[in-house]
Amino acid sequence: MEIKQNVALKPYNTFGVKARAKQFAEVSEVSEILELLNIQQPELILGGGSNILFRKNIDGLVVKNNLKGKEVINEDDQSVEVRFGAGENWHECVLWCIEKGYGGIENLSLIPGTMGAAPMQNIGAYGVELKDVFVSLEAIDLEEKVAHTFAHTECEFGYRESVFKTTLKGQYFITSVTLRLTKTNHQLNTEYGAIQQTLEKMNVQNLDIKSISDAVIQIRQSKLPDPADLGNAGSFFKNPVLLKSQFEVLKALHPDMISYDLPDDYVKIPAGWLIEQCGWKGKQIGNTGTYKSQALVIVNHGRARGDEIWDLAHQIQDTVHAKFKILLTPEVNVL
Ligand code: FAD
Ligand code: EPU
Repeated sequence: MEIKQNVALKPYNTFGVKARAKQFAEVSEVSEILELLNIQQPELILGGGSNILFRKNIDGLVVKNNLKGKEVINEDDQSVEVRFGAGENWHECVLWCIEKGYGGIENLSLIPGTMGAAPMQNIGAYGVELKDVFVSLEAIDLEEKVAHTFAHTECEFGYRESVFKTTLKGQYFITSVTLRLTKTNHQLNTEYGAIQQTLEKMNVQNLDIKSISDAVIQIRQSKLPDPADLGNAGSFFKNPVLLKSQFEVLKALHPDMISYDLPDDYVKIPAGWLIEQCGWKGKQIGNTGTYKSQALVIVNHGRARGDEIWDLAHQIQDTVHAKFKILLTPEVNVL
């Protein structure tokens, strides 16, 4: 394993912004992580770079995770537990599961990035979150240099949240993730968004995990920019969650406001709607802007610097706050 010096990070982030790492190493084995820890603590663990905004160079060691592997570790007639190496590409794992007939993550098709980053923010889409299939993960304690297994409850999953983004931030290198998937009686989830409508348009006769995955892929391709064509990191902000009582005050002022009911008298408001109402949708400002079909996605029109993107994010936050008194929180990890 080689530690390279002064490495360009542009190919390693889906925003496609320029930044450099003082040191850079790639790991394919857990033993290589331990070897590195004996030399130096990492400044950043990098998966697919699809949820990161680099505002500056990384003045330390960046470790790119390439830990691979898919192993069935438990199985009965109904379900299977699969342990995935944390460096596996998420979407390839989804396709592998569909091919094997394992259900549970088909609604999470086409999310970029790695398996190991999926628990970081409890990835979610189209009515399913990672926590719904998650069993446990293995991670290396960077300080103690020992492996630890985290059970579901220890991860403290929430909406785009986990303990690894809060109290344990920067303390662990996730090395594998175990998911429980169904082999029969799949719980097909078609309620969310345009899935049903898309399945009808696709003229699907036999509803199964593959057709749901195909529908989700079609919807995502129509709404979200492909980072290979237009740099982005998906939703830049989280959808704000308000108390129903607060929401009702706002709704009286903005009768068209869209909302989704949550348990315990909470309501989720789509940040994309709030941003569009402030006139940002599809707007280009210098090298950056928001996507024409999804105002929640900030894009790099080619040469944007991380700071330009961050400036735009602030402008968006300010105008949304001025109009709706709601402060948008970034989903993307800003470095
Ligand atoms: P990175 O960006 O490399 O890292 C993200 C964070 O996790 C960083 O803080 C990093 O240090 C940390 N990290 C990464 N790997 C490890 C590890 N092994 N151990 C410890 N820490 C680690 N997200 C959703 O939830 N739902 C969506 O529908 C969705 N759609 C998207 C669409 C597009 C077009 C894009 C570009 C992004 C989208 N995202 C979505 C966001 C992103 O894909 C996910 O957050 C994904 O899980 C990030 O994976 P990554 O490997 O690229 O992580
Ligand atoms: N909307 C607008 N204008 C916009 C964008 C959206 O009015 O410019 C409205 C839509 O019409 C719709 C509502 O907002 O009524 C929700 O939009 P959409 O279905 O596109 O989903 P979202 O809430 O913007 C969330 C996730 C996505 C995930 C999709 C599908 C967050 C922050 N984002 O987006 O996740 O793929 O739902 O489940 O929760 C990501 O995290 O990076 C991401 C892409």
